[in-house]
Amino acid sequence: MPSNLPIGIFDSGVGGLTVYRALHERLPNEHFVYLGDTARVPYGTKSLSTVERYGIENAKFLEAHGIKLLVVACNTASALALPAIRKAVSVTVVGVIEPGARAAVEVAAGKKIGVIATEATVQSAAYTSAISKINSDIEVTERACPLFVPLAEEGWAETEVARAVAEQYLIDLRKRDVGALVLGCTHYPILRNLISEVMGTDVPLIDSGEAAAREVQSLLESRQLLSPEREVELRERQLCDDLDHFYVTDAAERFAKVAERFLGMSPSILEAVEVWGHDELRTY
Ligand code: DGL
Repeated sequence: MPSNLPIGIFDSGVGGLTVYRALHERLPNEHFVYLGDTARVPYGTKSLSTVERYGIENAKFLEAHGIKLLVVACNTASALALPAIRKAVSVTVVGVIEPGARAAVEVAAGKKIGVIATEATVQSAAYTSAISKINSDIEVTERACPLFVPLAEEGWAETEVARAVAEQYLIDLRKRDVGALVLGCTHYPILRNLISEVMGTDVPLIDSGEAAAREVQSLLESRQLLSPEREVELRERQLCDDLDHFYVTDAAERFAKVAERFLGMSPSILEAVEVWGHDELRTY
């Protein structure tokens, strides 16, 4: 497998850009192909079979683009659909749940762990089972925080409305004296400061996207698949520059607008595509 192939990333929409940013920061020589399934977002309220179907279609779309590794940035898709996705494609697939769980266990050092995520991720208890596989003595409390997603997308992270919502959601977790809180949804790093203020700045927050980026780095290193430095890459790489390619399944303009909020810039190359029936891939 050539090491200069891009890394594929998919998410249900725009939130996975926080994972893209973490990967980009850690691996500045790599190229990325990002797919945001904006036509079918949100995944966090959908059933297992639907998320599996969407996840497989997204993964096949990216695999058809020639990638060396696939990152499932979406926590909900990672929680519900990872085994089905791994069965459907031959490329190596990295999700965000196991890396996030490992980082939380390390940081919590035997104390309780809190997890905040979408309704579907919480219902799947994927974080709880990943944590208990590492250390079955650790008590885990999961809490769904669905309103954090629209608040982040609206750019309302710093508002009183967001604070009131965070206080309501986190009230029980705050009382549980957790040794780490997992940000188990792509959007939550956007609300990181607020969540930290409400939980108490002494509670370590675990960004599952950052944890996955570390895992991707060590996987590529061990397989000698890190992209070699090339002349074009020796110039300062910018987020969203023309070396990275972004696809969405709908509403490219809205994606670009929210990308600007999340990353401070929008993709240079952004295309709308259909991912279902990828054999007849249509770009428009
Ligand atoms: N990307 C999803 C996640 O990380 C959040 C948005 C959605 O519900 O699709 O779980």
